[in-house]
This record gives sequence, C-alpha cells and structure tokens, in this order.
Amino acid sequence: MRIVLVGPPGAGKGTQAAFLAENLSIPHISTGDLFRANISQGTPLGQKAQEYMRAGQLVPDEVTIGMAKDRMEEPDAAGGFLLDGFPRNIAQAQALDSFLTDKNQRLDAVLDLEVPEDEVVKRIAGRRICRSQSSHVFHVEYSAPKKDGVCDVCGGELYQRDDDREETVRKRLAVYHSETEPIIDHYKAQGLVTTISAIGEVGEVTARAMAALRPE
Ligand code: AP5
Ligand code: ZN
Repeated sequence: MRIVLVGPPGAGKGTQAAFLAENLSIPHISTGDLFRANISQGTPLGQKAQEYMRAGQLVPDEVTIGMAKDRMEEPDAAGGFLLDGFPRNIAQAQALDSFLTDKNQRLDAVLDLEVPEDEVVKRIAGRRICRSQSSHVFHVEYSAPKKDGVCDVCGGELYQRDDDREETVRKRLAVYHSETEPIIDHYKAQGLVTTISAIGEVGEVTARAMAALRPE
C-alpha cells in the first residue's frame, strides 16, 4: 500500500506511523526524521534544513522533494510506503503525483488525523524523542518512559525538539493551516481522503486508522 498521513504538528502522525507501518509491513518515511538525521550527522542537507526547522517554516521544496524521492526509490519502498510529513504543500503533492504516475503507481489512501488545537499544544509540550535513528516518541504524561530521560526501546537519550518551543509551535500550526491543509482538498478531488479522530488512547487511534485503511 502507498499511504499519506496528514495532520497538524503533534497530531500523533509519527506515533501512529510506527504501528501502522509495522501492521502493514511497509516502511515509515518521515521527512522530519530524515531532516533530523541529517542535522545530527552534520550533512550539507541538514545544515540547509536546520534554520527553516528552527523557525517553524517549511524547508524549501528543491531540498525536500529530492530527498523524499531518493528515499522512496530505496528497495524497501518498492512495494509500498507510509509517508509522514510529506507532501506538505500543493507543489510537493503535485511532485508526488508525477513521481508515482511515471512509475505507473498510485496512492491507495490519505489518512487525515483530526485533533483540536489545545490538545496538539499539550502533546507537543510534553513530547520527548530518542536520539537514535528510530526517533522513538514519548510523552512525559501520556506515554512516560519507565526511566526519566531514557528510551524504553533502545536505551537512547530522550530530548525535547528544538522546534517544540511554544512560539515555534504556533508558527508551525499557522504554516500547517496555510500550506498543508490545501493538500487535503487536492486529495479529496482524487477520492483518497479518510478523516479520523486522533483523540483517545494511542491503540484506539491505531484501530480506527486500520479500520479506515482496511475496511473489510
Ligand atoms: P515533522 O517532524 O514532520 O513535524 P510535524 O509535522 O510538526 O509533526 P510532529 O512530529 O510535531 O508531530 P506528530 O504528528 O508526528 O506527533 P507525535 O507522534 O510525535 O516536521 C518538523 C519540521 O521539519 C517542519 O516544521 C519543517 O520545518 C520540516 N519538514 C518536515 N517535512 C517537511 C516537508 N515535507 N516540507 C518542508 N519542510 C518539512 O506525537 C506528539 C506527542 O503526542 C508525543 O509526545 C506522543 O507521545 C503524544 N501522543 C501521540 N498520540 C497520542 C495520543 N493518542 N494520546 C496522547 N498523547 C499522544
Ligand atoms: Zn530509542
């Protein structure tokens, strides 16, 4: 399956993507995680992305689209993938459409996670992520690690993202409304969108998402 996950910052895209990708046996491709990996490795791409991410702005399309395509060309993505955080504006959605058309492929679904803004703010304020490549996600209250500051999964150090400060979060939400939300209509016109509520326990949301993706 080829799936796009969309929703505001803090909706739980990364959290759900980890479970959905495992259930569906497809790779989880997060452009945010790819950028953060490049930043921690100090690559030129990471250096370019860093200033935009810190400011809560989108990284320019000429950097992002190439990086996403390269990742989708990797062998593990040949049979399908779950995109998290890409596409994030109309130009990226159009680039993805032509990338797939050229390969005679198409998206199967666009899953839109709906969460009220006050909940998003709470989720982001308490988020802690792991420094490992896998970016395991925790929340100080909703899914607290067993030991403070240490990842339950891999023992990595947990930290608060640079762009999770309140002011930057407000900017990211504004960018989401102006740049990213329009892709929902773009995909509605293709009959691909299912909107689900992302409120409730993580497992409940996963069950709702699986029911939307595999209705039978
Ligand atoms: P990115 O990393 O994609 O961030 P985002 O879209 O802002 O989304 P988040 O990672 O903040 O949230 P999420 O929905 O994954 O929530 P999570 O599962 O962590 O992008 C970061 C930046 O990179 C962008 O601002 C931009 O600069 C750049 N970028 C990335 N892609 C780009 C692109 N395509 N084009 C241009 N620039 C791009 O959950 C949040 C918290 O809530 C966690 O603590 C979690 O434990 C908790 N939680 C999750 N589910 C639940 C639940 N059901 N109940 C209670 N708590 C929950
Ligand atoms: Zn970890």
